[in-house]
This record gives sequence, structure tokens and C-alpha cells, in this order.
Amino acid sequence: MRFKKLLTSVLVACALLTASCTSQKQEPHQFEVGNKTFLLDGKPFIIKAAEMHYTRIPAEYWEHRIQMCKALGMNTICIYAFWNIHEQRPGEFNFKGQNDIAEFCRLAQKNGMYIMLRPGPYVCSEWEMGGLPWWLLKKKDIQLRTNDAYFLERTKIYMNEIGKQLADLQAPRGGNIIMVQVENEYGGYAVDKEYIANIRDIVREAGFTDVPLFQCDWSSTFQLNGLDDLLWTINFGTGANIDAQFKALKEARPETPLMCSEFWSGWFDHWGRKHETRDAETMVAGMRDMLDRNISFSLYMAHGGTTFGHWGGANCPPYSAMCSSYDYDAPISEAGWATPKYHKLREMLMQYADSGQVIPDVPQPYPLIEIPAIQFEETARLFDNLPEVKESEDIKPMEEFDQGWGTILYRTKLPDVKEGTVLLIDEVHDWAQVYADGKLLGRLDRRRGENSLTLPALKAGTQLDILVEAMGRVNFDYAIHDRKGITEKVELRTDDNRTTLKGWQVYSFPTDAVFAARKEFHKGGKTDGPAYYRASFELKETGDVFLDMQTWGKGMVWVNGKAIGRFWEIGPQQTLYMPGCWLKKGKNEIVVLDLLGPDKAEVKGLTQPILDMLRTEEPLTHRKEGESLNLKGEKPVATGKMAAGNGWQEVKFARPVKGSYFCLEALDAQDGKETASIAELYLLDENGKTLSRQNWQIDYADSESTSWGNYTADKVYDLQESTYWSTTRGAGYPHALVINLKGEYAISGFRYLPRAEENAPGAIKSYKVYVKEEPFVK
Ligand code: GLA
Ligand code: CA
Repeated sequence: MRFKKLLTSVLVACALLTASCTSQKQEPHQFEVGNKTFLLDGKPFIIKAAEMHYTRIPAEYWEHRIQMCKALGMNTICIYAFWNIHEQRPGEFNFKGQNDIAEFCRLAQKNGMYIMLRPGPYVCSEWEMGGLPWWLLKKKDIQLRTNDAYFLERTKIYMNEIGKQLADLQAPRGGNIIMVQVENEYGGYAVDKEYIANIRDIVREAGFTDVPLFQCDWSSTFQLNGLDDLLWTINFGTGANIDAQFKALKEARPETPLMCSEFWSGWFDHWGRKHETRDAETMVAGMRDMLDRNISFSLYMAHGGTTFGHWGGANCPPYSAMCSSYDYDAPISEAGWATPKYHKLREMLMQYADSGQVIPDVPQPYPLIEIPAIQFEETARLFDNLPEVKESEDIKPMEEFDQGWGTILYRTKLPDVKEGTVLLIDEVHDWAQVYADGKLLGRLDRRRGENSLTLPALKAGTQLDILVEAMGRVNFDYAIHDRKGITEKVELRTDDNRTTLKGWQVYSFPTDAVFAARKEFHKGGKTDGPAYYRASFELKETGDVFLDMQTWGKGMVWVNGKAIGRFWEIGPQQTLYMPGCWLKKGKNEIVVLDLLGPDKAEVKGLTQPILDMLRTEEPLTHRKEGESLNLKGEKPVATGKMAAGNGWQEVKFARPVKGSYFCLEALDAQDGKETASIAELYLLDENGKTLSRQNWQIDYADSESTSWGNYTADKVYDLQESTYWSTTRGAGYPHALVINLKGEYAISGFRYLPRAEENAPGAIKSYKVYVKEEPFVK
């Protein structure tokens, strides 16, 4: 007992010592925007920033990862602040432990690294709702990222809290923060300088007055909202043509220092899509190229880490949720290892060390362990463990029931249902299982636009259960207004009748560990249908490990009360990174919620991740076996030749044409080679405005490359200028793409963006365009 006390006081003393060590203020530094260069204490300074997120790294490992970045040759760490992790309930702020962003900055300072801070309010980042708190959506008419009074009011409250944590850490006050960002890539969202000015003022009023404030955007959008008194920086990825990326900025502001504020080292993974990678040599060459021209950069991500628990976001259109691993193919792997990409980059950065910069040795990775198969013998069926019921006459999204994340069950009684009646669920956010008197009728997946089921004959009084799992909230574009559960209505439809179902009983299954563990578990192992599984396992030694979820269906994992992440049999991610610092010597507890049900209820701990194993039931590409597009007899509405080179181009038809299907036929390439590729494609309405692409579907693409990356045709409308459709090697021209617009529109032309790399590989030259009311013949 006494020994325990002594030990405790020693531990407390140590903790205090570390705390004081990391809170020690250092010499003030001045950081300024000079003429074509940044100035640190009056001297030219190139920012070599490594982006990583405190939320995606266990706090116990923060310093290790900071040191990994320093040993890589970087001088700065770039971070977002994530509003929704700090304010999970309105007005309740948490900056402790894993959320202690100030401590993260102090650790960076202790290790001689500067900080670029990007406090949002919106951060994108493949993070749930782009960092915005879900409870904002309780206001029915909220307009996020606009001058909506409530949005600004809450932003201000949040930013002031960030100010309290971090304003004193600005470099001129003895801290290490050298720049602060205002909003994030707003040009990709809207045109509203007044809003940006409001956010700028909110950031300043929060205390960020002593360092330059900046805006980051794409080269194609930075001028839309660029404020005169802010620094402008440009985001682009590995392979992009650097001259082309900075051309417009140099013209607009010849004296400005240049910075690529997000140089994408890799890319993020979605469920059901090929694992993404980007070539190491090309990445290093791009960074060398920038250093040779004194261009500052931030490498997004230097270390991606893990989006633990339910914090992953989604992109839309098409809806597609993020995997838990945010490895990003970054130089520092998800588990903090130095990859071959790391060593290549380090070698180059060594040659560009700042005067006086000491690049330390690469820190050792944390130890690994293996865990023999853990058998799950305790089971709690979800339907036998319903939480407290909430009654609601109308269907409502989960936010209305004060639920932020997880799974929600909607239950009602059916009237007499004739065979062939359609059950329409509008809209399913995001993955639903439908039951009649406990029997599974079908599943609906938002990723595929599924929203209806044909019912068998059912007696009046049959219990209808719709169990909906919310995956990540959309983190990009207007679709961030992404309410979960069922958002509008549930209807029974026959040829002559539509009945809206009412009188719902609603049950919430949140994602917190305590809720997951507090169930009536029974001995029994694998069971059918949605269930929680629990097991304990003994460890002699702790260490990092990858939980192998290959035999499980779809759901979430908690270990020792920490939410580890999501799994889904379709992949590409099959293992979950389990940091050793959250394991214990002796007994550990693991809880799994599987909404589909496992093949085998066991989990092994592996020493290597599996991030690249897709097991989707449907093809990723958009051409059925043996299909080929028949354009014979079709009359093009436009023919012509595109210009060569990077950047947007617009084509106007002689007059608007009406149709629901759009086909672009490419006849040859600018470089005369066999490949065709398109980064983004918009259609223009009668007034020359871009049509919404929210419901678009690719009907056909003659060829799509998926062998070493994700170059499917839906990349032409995924809103990302750095992702693209590309045909495969060996498939020659002509190439063709058909888009189902899901509705009839008058189309007056299109806007087209080729790839961002030098000479725009795969850029199309001659083309023909067809627009039809009916589907094209294949
Ligand atoms: C943009 C955003 C980032 C991130 C990247 C893609 O540049 O600013 O937050 O979403 O795209 O990873
Ligand atoms: Ca794209």
C-alpha cells in the first residue's frame, strides 16, 4: 500500500516535470510574409511542413511522430483543429488528454518544430462532417459555412476556446505557431468574401493577431474568395505541374512568397474502392522541384495515422465513406514506421537542410506483438438489447433524437401489404437492413443509390424494422448537410396508391464504448444477425498490433473502452491498427458490434496491416462483360478539338439540347498515345451554369484502370481535381463515357479538366458529344 502511494507520488512528480518541461516558454520569434519569401526573425525562411493530426495519433505517441517528422528533415508541423472532437455537446469543451492540442504544439516546440495551425471551423480532412459538430444539423434550416447567424455564433464560441488554448503559443509570444489558416478551400464550396471576412475576424478576435493569416485553395479557385489582407497558398498533389499550379497566383500577386499548403503525398481510402497509393519518386521530385524554386510546402500527410472510432467522413457524389485507416500512403505509415517513401524523401531533404538545422537519426518504431486468435464466446443480439424507446409520429433523422453517431432502429406496424408493393425509404443514410416480424427482407446501401425494396404479401400488424447504420458524415461540398438515419419519409407504393408510414418507435445505438459494453451477454459464440460480441484476452507484453477482421461482416470495434474503428468485409482495409499504448499487461477486453454477422467470431493480432484487400461483390468498373457502346446512327450534338495543356476548358454547343444521358466520345489524344483521362467534367445548363452532379451515375465507360489505383469513371464527378478517370494500358482510342443524369436537362455545353500533371497525360484532342433522352445502346 505504502509502496503504491510512493509510486503514485513519483509518477505525479514525473508528470509535473514533463508538463513544466513542455510548457516552458521560449524566445519570441517574428514570422512575416516578406517579398517573395517568408521571413523568420527577418531572415528568409522556407517552410517545410509535415502535416499530421493529433486526433489520429494516440497522445502517448505524439512525440514519437513529431520526432519522425523532424528526422525526415522538416522544420514545421501542420495541424488542423477539429471542432467536433472538442465540442461534442454544445458548450461542453474538452481539451484534455487526447484532445490536448496545446500540449501537442508544446511537444513540437520542445522538439524544435514550428506549427502551422488550421483551426477551421471547417477542415474537410476526410473527417466526420469536415470537423463540424453534428448538432449544428439540429437547426433544420442551417446553412453551414455561410453567414447563417447561428453558424457564425457557434463558430465564434468554438474559435474563442481555441484561442484560449493556443493564442499564447504564437511565435511572437514565445510559442511556435507561425501561421494560422482561415477556413479551408472555400473556393471549392461557394463564392462569399463576406463570409471569409467574418471567419478572418473571428480568428483574429480569438487572439490570433501576431502571425500571418492565410487562405488555402486550388489554383482554379483561389481568386474566388481571396481577401486582400490574407496570404494565399495553393493545394495540389504528387505529380502536378508546379508551374501551372502557381501561374495564376504569380500573376495576381507577383511579390507573394509561394507555398503549396497541401502537397498530397498519397490519398485516402474509401470502403469498397481500390487502395490508393502515389509514387514515391514522383512525390520527392515534386518537392525537390519546389525547394529548388524556394517554394514552401506542407506535405499532406507526412503521417496520416488512424481515424479512430466513428470519426471518418465520406465523399459525395457518389456517397462513399472513408476507411478507418488514414495511412494515406504517407511517408510515415499508419503505425509510425519509416517507409521506403520516407527514406527517399529524407535523403532529398538532407540536401536542403536549413543552415543550422540538425536532422536527427530516425527514431525506432514502437515494438510489435502478435495475438493468437481470440475466441468470442459471449454474444448480445442487438434486437434482444433494445435501449429506451422514443416515440415519433413521423420519421425523423437521428439528430432529432439527439443521437450523433451509430445505428438507429425505426419500428412500426404495417397495414395489409399486397405482394409487389414497394417500400420506399427516402433517404437511407447510410446502410439499412429491413425486417418484417424479425425476418430480413433486404439491405439498402446509399453508396449505390438504393432506396426501395419490393415487399412480399404481409398481414396487417406485421412489425416493420428498419435498422440504419450511419457511416461517416460527408466532409466535402454542400453534401456536408448530411443528416443520418432516415431523413425524409418511408412510403408504401403500389400503382395507384402511396401511403406514408407513421407511428414510429425509435431506438438509438450510439458508438460510445460504455453503451457497447453494457449489454446482456450470453455464452454462445456466433449468432445470426446484428449482435455485440465480447471477449477478453491476456497479454504478457503490450505492443502495437493489427486486429484481423477478415472473418467479420460490418461494424465497429472497441478495446479497453477505446473505440478503435470500423470494419467492413468488402475492404480494402481488413485490419485495424491497435496501438500498444492502449493495451494492458494482463487482462484486456474487446467488444465487436457486427451488423451483418461474422463467418467466424475470432480476432487475431497480426504484425502487418492489410489495407489492400478488396472483396466487393460488384465490379468497380462500368462496363459489363461483352458490352460495347453502339453509336452507329447516333448524331453528335457537338464535335471539335480540345486545347492542349493543363487547366479548365469550356465547350459551348450551337444551341441547348435536352436529354437524360450524356456521352463523350474521345477520338484521339493530345500526345497521340492510347490513354484517355479526365479529372473533372461539368455539364452546363441553358444559362451556362453548371448542373448538379449529385445524382449522376456512370452508365458506361469503355475502359477503366483499377489494377494499381483507383481510376474509375466516377472520378470525373467526385469534385476532386486531383483524381481522374483513366483508361487501361493496351486499350486504344476511341474511348467513351456515358453519364446517366438521372433526370432530363437542357444542356448547353460542358467544362472539362484534364489531369494536373505536366503535359496533362491522357488529355483528349478530338471529341464527339451525344445527348439522348433514352439510354444508349450497348
Ligand atoms: C483537401 C482538404 C484536406 C483533405 C485533402 C484530401 O485538400 O483541404 O483537408 O481533405 O483535400 O485528402
Ligand atoms: Ca476528379
